[in-house]
Amino acid sequence: MHDFTDNVVLITGSARGIGYAIAEHFAGAKATVIILDLNQDAVQKAVDQLKAGAEKVFGYVGNVTDSAGIEELFSRIVREHGKIDVLINNAGVTRDNLMIRMSEAEWQLVMDINLKGSFICTQKAFKHMMKARKGSIINMASVIGLMGNVGQANYAASKGGLIAFTKSCAKEFSKRNVRVNAVAPGFIETEMTASLSDEIRKEYASVIPLGRMGSTDDIAQVCMFLASSNSNYITGQTIAVDGGLTMH
Ligand SMILES: NC(=O)c1ccc[n+]([C@@H]2O[C@H](COP(=O)([O-])OP(=O)(O)OC[C@H]3O[C@@H](n4cnc5c(N)ncnc54)[C@H](O)[C@@H]3O)[C@@H](O)[C@H]2O)c1
Repeated sequence: MHDFTDNVVLITGSARGIGYAIAEHFAGAKATVIILDLNQDAVQKAVDQLKAGAEKVFGYVGNVTDSAGIEELFSRIVREHGKIDVLINNAGVTRDNLMIRMSEAEWQLVMDINLKGSFICTQKAFKHMMKARKGSIINMASVIGLMGNVGQANYAASKGGLIAFTKSCAKEFSKRNVRVNAVAPGFIETEMTASLSDEIRKEYASVIPLGRMGSTDDIAQVCMFLASSNSNYITGQTIAVDGGLTMH
């Protein structure tokens, strides 16, 4: 396993789900881990759980759509921890509805958090990374951003946009030695999907070449690869972690 001892890794939306699993992996690899999420109690709980096995885990409350708040917060994090080596734009939401019924509020909320939130955090983190001439940014996309999906036009557009955003940033930031990549998870087992019936689970598995849903660990492992020097020559890519669902 890569040793992240000298690395500060900031993960948005990491109080639970995929973000929490990523934080757990980086904490296990000795990184300084920054948990950022909306709710104080949820952040504290995540930090307490992770601190049981690792020393350098710190929690901050923030909303990725709050540009001024994020700017201030990232400057504070740099003051307190010296730098930001890795930013993982993981915070994301769904507001599913068929197109004919989708409200502008449902469209806007998903765009604001998934796409604009990633823009804001990337811009604020890059200001620090460009001075250090070093950094890795990972955007949490989705296979839905590659394939589209019924009832998810807003989500698909936000994640498709995030993939294009990844490529543009990769081109802009390359001169400063900052790499930008995206991970596109397929169907992943989380608290959200735990309530799915066996029937739906079997239906999902039947269309996935590897025959199973993915785990949060599957996603975290790829994030660690993209954050590490093992991927030094990779930028602007989107890696689908989907059991083969989107291969072509
Ligand atoms: N679960 C899946 O199967 C799956 C598949 C593909 C992509 N993804 C993507 O992975 C990411 C994580 O998904 P998850 O399933 O763990 O979701 P989740 O809902 O379990 O966790 C998302 C976290 O983001 C936080 N968050 C939401 N809005 C925020 C904001 N404005 N500012 C800061 N934090 C905010 C939430 O509080 C929550 O803790 C998302 O971007 C999602 O789109 C998930």
